[in-house]
Amino acid sequence: MAGVLVTGSMILDMVITVPRLPEPGENVHGAGFAMVAGGKGANQAVAAARLGQDAFLMGCVGRDTFGDLILDAVEQAGVDASLVKRAPAALTGVALIAIEEGAGMNTIVVDPGANMALAVDDLDVLEPYYARARTALFQLEIPLDVVAEGARRARERGLVTVLDAGPPHDVPIEFLEAFDVVSPNEKELAALSGRVVRGVKSAMAAAKELAGTGIKRIVVKMGEQGALLVADGDAVHVPPFEIDGVDSTGAGDAFTAGLAVALAEGAGDAEAVRFANAAGAAAVTVLGAIPSMPERRAVQRLLVRGESV
Ligand code: RIB
Repeated sequence: MAGVLVTGSMILDMVITVPRLPEPGENVHGAGFAMVAGGKGANQAVAAARLGQDAFLMGCVGRDTFGDLILDAVEQAGVDASLVKRAPAALTGVALIAIEEGAGMNTIVVDPGANMALAVDDLDVLEPYYARARTALFQLEIPLDVVAEGARRARERGLVTVLDAGPPHDVPIEFLEAFDVVSPNEKELAALSGRVVRGVKSAMAAAKELAGTGIKRIVVKMGEQGALLVADGDAVHVPPFEIDGVDSTGAGDAFTAGLAVALAEGAGDAEAVRFANAAGAAAVTVLGAIPSMPERRAVQRLLVRGESV
């Protein structure tokens, strides 16, 4: 086994499917309310477990029923969540999510709550876990000083450090340099690079510019357009898998977890990005974040069918 150690957010997602996403100030009626465990950290840990690796999750929830619900969901998926902290004085993070019927596009509003109670000192409990993992996976939905110190410690202990750069943050280059792989989507790449990013051409230009500042590998998640890999001065477009999507929530998390799992297993960069593309594509076929994190066999089926367009 080549374990994945995730340090990140745990959030309860309140999801409503709507005929179309609301304009600012507009009231849109939807149907099919669901409360689903989510948060980028929890989603990625579950995806790593379902993709067949030992997955360890460090995060923080409140001492409330929402926290219980998320812990149950991640543990049922096979994640070792024994490291998760329960904050005495903060409520579990919550997200309000509208999903557009048919298109699967969403809008997400997050109150991170207890996620922001995670502190650098909490990382001390990770010490025995470094030897059990090959990749360390982070996002930007918990305090950034915890992410920076977590990445520094993981790299020092020999792990490959991977950053899912969501949600969008304008972080300095020195922060990004702690990661062996940085993986933003288009909006996150725009925030990191300060450029307008829309489509493959502009994403390629922004990623190359960012790589030129000293980031080793950048993998841009482009959704229906696949992904971009910028490494060692080379830039390639990795085509997507064609799939009928119902909900894109968590697809980026499945993608990044797929990338971390493949790298942990020793895959080459291009192979790892193709595996990540398949994991992201499989995730859009199911509603909700944690419920949509794919099993290894679903990803394998896509890879074997080779329906990359
Ligand atoms: O990446 C998807 C996740 O972002 C959702 O599960 C939601 O909790 C938000 O954090």
